[in-house]
Amino acid sequence: MDDLGPYDPTVDYSHEPAIKEIRPDASEAVSWKPLNMTRRNFLRGVVCSGVVIAGAGYVFSHPTKARADARAVERLVSLTVNGRRRQVEAPPNETLAYTLRYRLGLTGTKIGCNRAECGACTVMADGVSVYSCSTLTHRVRDKEIVTVEGVAAPDGTLHPVQQAFIDEIGPQCGFCTPGQVVAAVALLNTNPTPTLDEARLAMSGNLCRCGAYDHYLRGVMKAAGRA
Ligand code: FES
Ligand code: FES
Repeated sequence: MDDLGPYDPTVDYSHEPAIKEIRPDASEAVSWKPLNMTRRNFLRGVVCSGVVIAGAGYVFSHPTKARADARAVERLVSLTVNGRRRQVEAPPNETLAYTLRYRLGLTGTKIGCNRAECGACTVMADGVSVYSCSTLTHRVRDKEIVTVEGVAAPDGTLHPVQQAFIDEIGPQCGFCTPGQVVAAVALLNTNPTPTLDEARLAMSGNLCRCGAYDHYLRGVMKAAGRA
């Protein structure tokens, strides 16, 4: 064999396609033909495949209208609040405090601790005082709810408890006051003439960061005609 000297890519490089399609019945190898791929075609392909994939995701994961309607019916709840029948859409895990404040605009009900400790969210359900932050809206659909907005007379005359709290200078910052009012009204509705100890016990679930406990207690006794 002749000595070809050192390998020279400019001369010795083979220009045959690197890939060949071999057909078993073919007497000759068929040359590989590169795709007619321009940059524009490539980008078009990428965009189109993206649209197809996104569309498939939407079709397979988006809830159908029937399913969405069923969910809406599940969320629909009728409540009687301060004597008015109200319909709201609330998920099953929504609290009454949230529904009252953010769906019905009854912001007199306060949220303090949001964990059944302070009483700022107290409302009445069928006359019984409850922490609305820890009561599910769907659980009270058949009950009469009364908030602090509903204790005064329709003509605006304050409830005796409200007037007594003002007279006894109960509210300091006022944050706990709506809960104190509702708890006191609930007490006097069931026990119009409580003893001081009964009143103290009934109001014990309502904390006051301003420490105005004696003022509120005197107000309860005054509203009960016992002070
Ligand atoms: S906010 Fe409901 S008990 Fe405190
Ligand atoms: S008046 Fe301020 S928390 Fe009771």
